[in-house]
Amino acid sequence: MLILVLLGLLPCLVSSAVLDKKAGETSSDIFPPTGTTVNTAIFPNESEVGYPGITLTGVEPAAIQTAPASLYAYNTDPLSSYPLVSDHPNGSNGEDGFDITKYWGNLSPWYSVSSNFYGLNETSPNSPKGCSIIQVHLLYRHGARYPTTGSPPSTFASKISNATKQEKGFNSTGELNFLNEWKYLLGAELLTISGRLQNFALGASFRQQYGYLLNNFTESKTLPVFRTESQDRMVKTANNFAAGMFGVPEYLDQVNIEIMVETPGINNTGAPYETCLNSNVASKGSIGSTAAAAFAKNAFNETLERLQSQITGVNLTSTDIIAMLQLCSYETDALGYSAFCKLFTEEDFENYEYYFDISFYYNNGAGSPVAAAQGKGFLSEFVSRFTGGPTPKADSSVNSTLDNNPIYFPLNQSIYADATHEVIILDTLTAFNLSAIFSSGPLPINKRTENSFKASQVVPFATHLTIQVLECSNTSPSKQIRFILNDAVLPIDQSYDGCEYNKDGLCSFDNVVNVLQKRIEEIDWNHDCLGNYTASPGNDYNGRAPRN
Ligand SMILES: *[C@@H]1O[C@H](CO)[C@@H](O)[C@H](O)[C@H]1NC(C)=O
Ligand SMILES: *[C@@H]1O[C@H](CO)[C@@H](O)[C@H](O)[C@H]1NC(C)=O
Ligand SMILES: *[C@@H]1O[C@H](CO)[C@@H](O)[C@H](O)[C@H]1NC(C)=O
Ligand SMILES: *[C@@H]1O[C@H](CO)[C@@H](O)[C@H](O)[C@H]1NC(C)=O
Ligand SMILES: *[C@@H]1O[C@H](CO)[C@@H](O)[C@H](O)[C@H]1NC(C)=O
Ligand SMILES: *[C@@H]1O[C@H](CO)[C@@H](O)[C@H](O)[C@H]1NC(C)=O
Ligand SMILES: *[C@@H]1O[C@H](CO)[C@@H](O)[C@H](O)[C@H]1NC(C)=O
Ligand SMILES: *[C@@H]1O[C@H](CO)[C@@H](O)[C@H](O)[C@H]1NC(C)=O
Ligand SMILES: *[C@@H]1O[C@H](CO)[C@@H](O)[C@H](O)[C@H]1NC(C)=O
Ligand SMILES: *[C@@H]1O[C@H](CO)[C@@H](O)[C@H](O)[C@H]1NC(C)=O
Ligand SMILES: *[C@@H]1O[C@H](CO)[C@@H](O)[C@H](O)[C@H]1NC(C)=O
Ligand SMILES: *[C@@H]1O[C@H](CO)[C@@H](O)[C@H](O)[C@H]1NC(C)=O
Repeated sequence: MLILVLLGLLPCLVSSAVLDKKAGETSSDIFPPTGTTVNTAIFPNESEVGYPGITLTGVEPAAIQTAPASLYAYNTDPLSSYPLVSDHPNGSNGEDGFDITKYWGNLSPWYSVSSNFYGLNETSPNSPKGCSIIQVHLLYRHGARYPTTGSPPSTFASKISNATKQEKGFNSTGELNFLNEWKYLLGAELLTISGRLQNFALGASFRQQYGYLLNNFTESKTLPVFRTESQDRMVKTANNFAAGMFGVPEYLDQVNIEIMVETPGINNTGAPYETCLNSNVASKGSIGSTAAAAFAKNAFNETLERLQSQITGVNLTSTDIIAMLQLCSYETDALGYSAFCKLFTEEDFENYEYYFDISFYYNNGAGSPVAAAQGKGFLSEFVSRFTGGPTPKADSSVNSTLDNNPIYFPLNQSIYADATHEVIILDTLTAFNLSAIFSSGPLPINKRTENSFKASQVVPFATHLTIQVLECSNTSPSKQIRFILNDAVLPIDQSYDGCEYNKDGLCSFDNVVNVLQKRIEEIDWNHDCLGNYTASPGNDYNGRAPRN
């Protein structure tokens, strides 16, 4: 009777069926299904798979020692990304609420974005009234990592270190006094402590929100297959996510983690740049990097002059300013605190974010000629998962050896979770034509402009795209789908033919599948990734290469 009363209160038909089962479940109905085990022969671990990439550790953090006494990462402090300590910008005491960690592009810790930002002001990720979420597809990025090999911070460190060896010597004073004692303490490539926490928290919140969908696996007596790539930080990302989702040590027994090889020449939807040869060509896949560097040349002149006046023995360039800003981000992310942050003004941080906006918009967004092609692999795989088959065509980064095998590419899960890199998440958003994130058009490259594309909102650490498949009692047809990026529900009516404005971002599942199947057909991997053409920044290519 009590159960019936409770069920009567439930707004959604299907979830009541799911929850109904839960109410009467016995221990044999509870996840993990009885008699299941992780099969390490079929799903070998990191050391068996190999290709971990570079694995360089840094020093132990000591934020309790290095941060000023007035700055501690209290979990209530809106200016901190717990447990990181972030400083106030130059010229600010923090009273205006300016949070520097939201201006670090792909080096920002992820934060919730309001649906309102993309124009849906009356919705949330929770199941809309009358609807029940019956399937969820998650695509998420690794958490905070050390700098990738050869990025600006280590070059800057080498420049300073070389200067100290010169006869005339190196001297820094005033704000830069700390540089006299400063040492480069970061490793390379690996997931950091805060990165581990971000992925763990993501897994825990995912279980909190969608745990009931595990009941499907219990019914079929199978374990979920979640995927990642072979780089060490990618394996650790999937492990930490799974630990958050299933618990420690239960995660070792409750999910099969599939590690796809990431190395040049191998088809891998999570690392398409390994076969998309145009992805790193200056006039093609990396026009954004060049444009961003050009923007930086003019954006920091005042700060450059101010810092140069306090240092002798090195001539600072705009590349050094970017390196020092990145050191602010990386040292905070890895060591918990960085003395570089307070060198820069609020405007510097806004320009730093815009530098990343340009770089990502033109390397992996609408302004890139290779973005859609690189995202086509995940797009094809997700559409196969939506429809339960057929398996994807191998005309992109799809690896048909894996995808034609239901052990490695099951098509009947209620929950999917793939880990990848930020560039691929943005490539995938572009392939899906989720153009609400690009609605303000191509970014001007010479001057910062207010725009809808914010790298820190789209490609931060642990960024995640959540795709919900829903059954609704108040829509026709009843099967619906919607897209959620870092908690913001994305409107799709502007870019999906046949989808009308819906306040919850919903559209007919069948219609969306139709639109996406056409999109798969129009994206030409061979031309975009291997063809000969010239692209330039300033255009909205819808992620596809020009024919010239
Ligand atoms: C990886 O798997 C191999 C073979 O099953 C096993 O010998 C090894 O201990 C495992 N390593 C880890 C870190 O679990
Ligand atoms: C900030 O910049 C000003 C110059 O614009 C400089 O005088 C000052 O020392 C800087 N540092 C702080 C912490 O305000
Ligand atoms: C949302 O926007 C619409 C149209 O601009 C407006 O009528 C409505 O009041 C807004 N709702 C909220 C909750 O702000
Ligand atoms: C520092 O000096 C070393 C050895 O001479 C050189 O290889 C390296 O390129 C220099 N670093 C920079 C940033 O100039
Ligand atoms: C560094 O510069 C400051 C200010 O010009 C000066 O007082 C100090 O003696 C210099 N230190 C060294 C080691 O040259
Ligand atoms: C497909 O993936 C497997 C495992 O990651 C790899 O060994 C194989 O070489 C890949 N195939 C191609 C064609 O890249
Ligand atoms: C900034 O400095 C660069 C290099 O010195 C110079 O070419 C450029 O004109 C300056 N830009 C502005 C806006 O002052
Ligand atoms: C810095 O630039 C000045 C002027 O171009 C030059 O004389 C000096 O040698 C440079 N110093 C270093 C350390 O490169
Ligand atoms: C790997 O990708 C290429 C390019 O799309 C494709 O031609 C080839 O068939 C794929 N190989 C496999 C095993 O999927
Ligand atoms: C998916 O299908 C396979 C093969 O038919 C079956 O063994 C498995 O139990 C199914 N998994 C789920 C989660 O339903
Ligand atoms: C999950 O289970 C529910 C209830 O049994 C069912 O309606 C739904 O179709 C299942 N989902 C998948 C993806 O199999
Ligand atoms: C690409 O096209 C340009 C312009 O037509 C031509 O000069 C160049 O040789 C071509 N490159 C290749 C690799 O075919």
